[in-house]
Amino acid sequence: MSERVRIYEVGPRDGLQNEAASIPTATKAQFIELLADAGLREIEVTSFVSPRPVPQLADADQLLSSLRPRPGLRYPVLVPNLRGLSRAEAAGAEAIAVFTASSDAFARANIGMTVDESMAAFAPVLARAGELGWWRRGYVSTAFGCPYTGRVEPARAVDVALRLLTLGLDEVCFGDTIGVAVPSQVAALTGLAVEAGIPLSQMAYHFHDTRGTALANVAAGLDAGVRCFDSSAGGTGGCPYAPGAAGNLATEDLVYFLDASGWEHGASLSGVLEAARFIAGALGRPVASKVGQAGGWDPASGAPLGRA
Ligand code: HMG
Ligand code: MG
Repeated sequence: MSERVRIYEVGPRDGLQNEAASIPTATKAQFIELLADAGLREIEVTSFVSPRPVPQLADADQLLSSLRPRPGLRYPVLVPNLRGLSRAEAAGAEAIAVFTASSDAFARANIGMTVDESMAAFAPVLARAGELGWWRRGYVSTAFGCPYTGRVEPARAVDVALRLLTLGLDEVCFGDTIGVAVPSQVAALTGLAVEAGIPLSQMAYHFHDTRGTALANVAAGLDAGVRCFDSSAGGTGGCPYAPGAAGNLATEDLVYFLDASGWEHGASLSGVLEAARFIAGALGRPVASKVGQAGGWDPASGAPLGRA
C-alpha cells in the first residue's frame, strides 16, 4: 500500500457554503491561491447549484473563470444537474462532483430528489462530463447517519456508492455529513465496500468533525487502506440541510497528524495555517481548530511551530 495520502481540500466550497456574511469573490480567489501555494493539489472551489439555497456560492461562474490555471492542480466543483454542468463548462471546469445521499430524506431536503431520482438526474451529467474528459467524483452523504431518519446501515451507503460508480466515476466519497461516525463504523463500511467490489483507490472519506471523531475516523480509514481524505482549512463547513453539523475536519489538524505519522501528502503545515488564518480573518473570527490554535510542533526543540 502506498505511503502517500491525497488531501482533498473543501474549504472554499463546503467551508464557505453555509456562511451568512457575504464574502467577496476576490477574497475566495485569494484563499484558493493560498491553499494552492500551501501545496494542496485538489481544491473543491465552489458549486454550480441554485443560488436560492446557497447564496454564498452564487458567484461560482465568476470565481471559477477567474482562477489561474496551475499545472498539476485540480479544481473540482459541485454540480447537481445539467444546468449546473453547462454553467461549469462555460466557466472552464475540468472536474466535477455530483452529490446524493444514503437517505431519501436528506437527498430530498438537499437536492429536491430521492436517491433514485438523483441517479436519473446524474446519469446524463456524468456521461457528458465523461465525453469532455473531466475527472468525476460522487458523494454519498449521510453515509453513517441522517439528521432526519437516524442510523444508516453501511449496506445502504455501499449500495448507493455502487449505483453511482456504474454511472461513471473516478472516485466515490462517503460523507459523514453530521459528524456521527466512530472508527469501528469506518472500518465496517470500508470492509463492506471492498467486499462489494469498490476499489480502495476509488474511495474517499469526508468527515465533519461535529463530535470530535474526524481524525480518529481518518486513522481507521488509513488502517483499512483508504488514501484520500477531505478537509477544510480552518475547519469551517456545514450544509444548509444538515442541522447541527459543525465544520469539516480541519486541514491543519489532518496535515499535523499525517506528518507526525510519516505519511507523504505534499502540503505544508505553515502554508495551510496561513490560508486558514486568512479565511478566518475574512470571516471575522479566530481559527477554531486545535492545530490552528496550538500550532505544529518541532520535535528537535520541543517548541510549537507556526503559532499565530
Ligand atoms: P429544485 O427547486 O428542486 O429544482 O432544486 P428546480 O429545477 O425547480 O429549480 C429551482 C430553481 O433553481 C429554479 O430557479 C432553477 O432555475 C434554479 P427559479 O426559476 O425558481 O428562479 N436552478 C439552478 N440555478 C443555478 N444553477 C443550477 C440550477 N438548477 C436549478 N444548477 C437543486 C434542485 C438541485 C437545483 C437545488 O436543490 C440545489 O441547488 N441544491 C443544492 C444544495 C447544496 O448545494 N447543498 C450543499 C452541498 S451538499 C453537501 O454539503 C454535502 C457534502 O459536503 C458531503 C457531506 O458532507 O456529506 C458534499
Ligand atoms: Mg460536507
